[in-house]
Amino acid sequence: MTSSAARAEPRRASRRHSGAHGPRPLGLFFKGFLKHPVMVGSIIPSSTKLIDRMLSRVDWAETKLFVEYGPGVGTFCRPILDRMAPDATLVAIDTNADFIDYLKRDIRDSRFSPVQGSAAYVREIVAEHGFDHADYVLSGLPFSTLPPGVGDAIAAATAEVLRPGGAFLVYQFSPKVKKFLDPHFKRIDHGFEPRNIPPAQLYWAWKDQPAV
Ligand SMILES: C[S@@+](CC[C@H](N)C(=O)[O-])C[C@H]1O[C@@H](n2cnc3c(N)ncnc32)[C@H](O)[C@@H]1O
Repeated sequence: MTSSAARAEPRRASRRHSGAHGPRPLGLFFKGFLKHPVMVGSIIPSSTKLIDRMLSRVDWAETKLFVEYGPGVGTFCRPILDRMAPDATLVAIDTNADFIDYLKRDIRDSRFSPVQGSAAYVREIVAEHGFDHADYVLSGLPFSTLPPGVGDAIAAATAEVLRPGGAFLVYQFSPKVKKFLDPHFKRIDHGFEPRNIPPAQLYWAWKDQPAV
């Protein structure tokens, strides 16, 4: 690779799952669940089938900023980075400091920015990264078990931060999550993925272009 090609190439994810440097992802995820069961909402990370299906509707050529809520130990982050363009950015927001520390150590990619905080502050976090809008937002948050008001605030902030033509991608074990999406998105596609523990409901909530 020439030096100019090397500059154009993002520092791709170098991944370490070494127990010598810290906990392994499954153990850390389970520990996170034991510490904050309501916030984590699951004992097992998402399956490859779920990940592939959820991301299949993303137009990667039109993606400059991808935001993920609740990355946990990064089960989606790696497949997103594998699909993303060299000049795109992935911002992953999680309230759990242990997960964010782990992601900072484990995924070394210049396009990746893990942020400790709540998804409710997505507009501020997107602005801090120098963007006006996100192209896609993905959520693995346990919407129905979040403290009262938080799910509504996150859905409203997401509808605002998305660009027209973008989408809010949501996977969840309960279809109750749709009631958080309905007030903010007119067009919502639905799928079901049985090859996940537990089986998951999938939603693609589109922010349509304004009519001309
Ligand atoms: C079910 S886990 C998602 C796991 C992972 N995305 C996967 O696919 O395996 C939910 C995650 O949401 C995080 N979380 C909960 N409330 C949050 C909030 N308000 N903002 C951002 N992250 C939050 C938890 O710390 C946890 O990492």
